[in-house]
Amino acid sequence: MGKMQVLGVIAVMLVVYSVHAKVYFREEFLDGDQWRSRWVDSKHKSDYGEWKLTAGKFYGDAEKDKGLQTSQDARFYATSARFEPFSNEGKPVVIQFTVKHEQKIDCGGGYVKVFPTDLDQTGMNGDSSYYIMFGPDICGYSTKKVHVIFNYKGKNHLIKKEIKCKDDELSHLYTLILNPDQTYEVKIDNNKVESGSLEEDWDFLPAKKIKDPEAKKPEDWDDRAKIDDADDTKPEDWDKAENIPDPDAKKPDDWDEDMDGEWEPPMIPNPEYKGEWKPKQIDNPNYKGAWVHPEIDNPEYSADSDIYKFEKIGVLGLDLWQVKSGTIFDNFVITDDVKEAEDIGNETWGATKEPERKMKQEQDDLKQKEDEEKNKEQDTEADEEEDEDIDEEEEEEEDEEDSKDDMEDGPLETDDEEVKEKDEL
Ligand SMILES: *[C@@H]1O[C@H](CO)[C@@H](O)[C@H](O)[C@H]1NC(C)=O
Repeated sequence: MGKMQVLGVIAVMLVVYSVHAKVYFREEFLDGDQWRSRWVDSKHKSDYGEWKLTAGKFYGDAEKDKGLQTSQDARFYATSARFEPFSNEGKPVVIQFTVKHEQKIDCGGGYVKVFPTDLDQTGMNGDSSYYIMFGPDICGYSTKKVHVIFNYKGKNHLIKKEIKCKDDELSHLYTLILNPDQTYEVKIDNNKVESGSLEEDWDFLPAKKIKDPEAKKPEDWDDRAKIDDADDTKPEDWDKAENIPDPDAKKPDDWDEDMDGEWEPPMIPNPEYKGEWKPKQIDNPNYKGAWVHPEIDNPEYSADSDIYKFEKIGVLGLDLWQVKSGTIFDNFVITDDVKEAEDIGNETWGATKEPERKMKQEQDDLKQKEDEEKNKEQDTEADEEEDEDIDEEEEEEEDEEDSKDDMEDGPLETDDEEVKEKDEL
């Protein structure tokens, strides 16, 4: 092939590729208050928390990083956006968004729900049936995981694997890929953190094999590896009393038999006592090994190659509870193209994550300096505040460690270690 022909083929491939990529939903909140016309708040409860459009306390780009933030503590939040319904039959579907827990979240959801198109958006609530729930969920030290829940035949099924979520204050990109070959992949920050098959990692279907209910261990099945040696007999001098009168005990001089009764020496353990006699153990010549219950195909099981399939995907919703508010959701994408999602992730989260991290670092450094100065002033004050100062110095040390962690390349690993340490305490 000549050079021009090669270029031609590449050009055709690019056209085919871009024609095939379909973005069903994309929301980056780039047009001011207009998002209010696209998102519908649920009216199911009267006291849902308010969503605020903001880039937060620190960001990579003051405009592009604007997203929906939970703004009131200890509230339920419920809002959703509709798009043209589609089926993922025979195609991958990718669900992706960013979450920023800039408030140092203690307990609260950071996940999305994907609904069938017939969802009543103003009535949306925790019981509204959804197709997919995906994203981070944090509560205390014990719950820090990524949910991947699929609805199958009317029932919600949770993933059996534990996927750890990020628990720092920066923006993170969460991606779920669901493939028509019934495999899936979860990515955080465009790195794969979990993958596998629907059938293995969820309990959608009954077990393929079950123990044969007809099979029973034969009565004469001998599964004793060792038996008593029949030739072994108890030695004649084996039986000795467990306790004997203390031979060294003496009747006290002042013992008065009329008053105290007949004197008896105290009992002590008999050094010659050998305990209960047991015959020697020998290999059982009739040993057949442990009996294994034979398995048969489960008559209840039937394969289903459509577990992954959802007929009319049409709404993306945020339906969650937060104790400490401040989480910002942004950069929602639903597409049938894995590479397109990665591209969009790179263009959005990928482009602003570094300046965001820097801005946070500067704020942290500044706060640390202010705290240090405050402490210095306090040090010159009266001695009776000694105890308090010690507390504050300890806090300061912790802050220093935190910011050190933030500077390191692998915040995930550091976080994991921290969590583990705390769990162990
Ligand atoms: C996204 O960014 C990463 C890291 O820079 C890069 O390795 C990857 O190829 C990018 N993906 C796409 C689809 O451009």
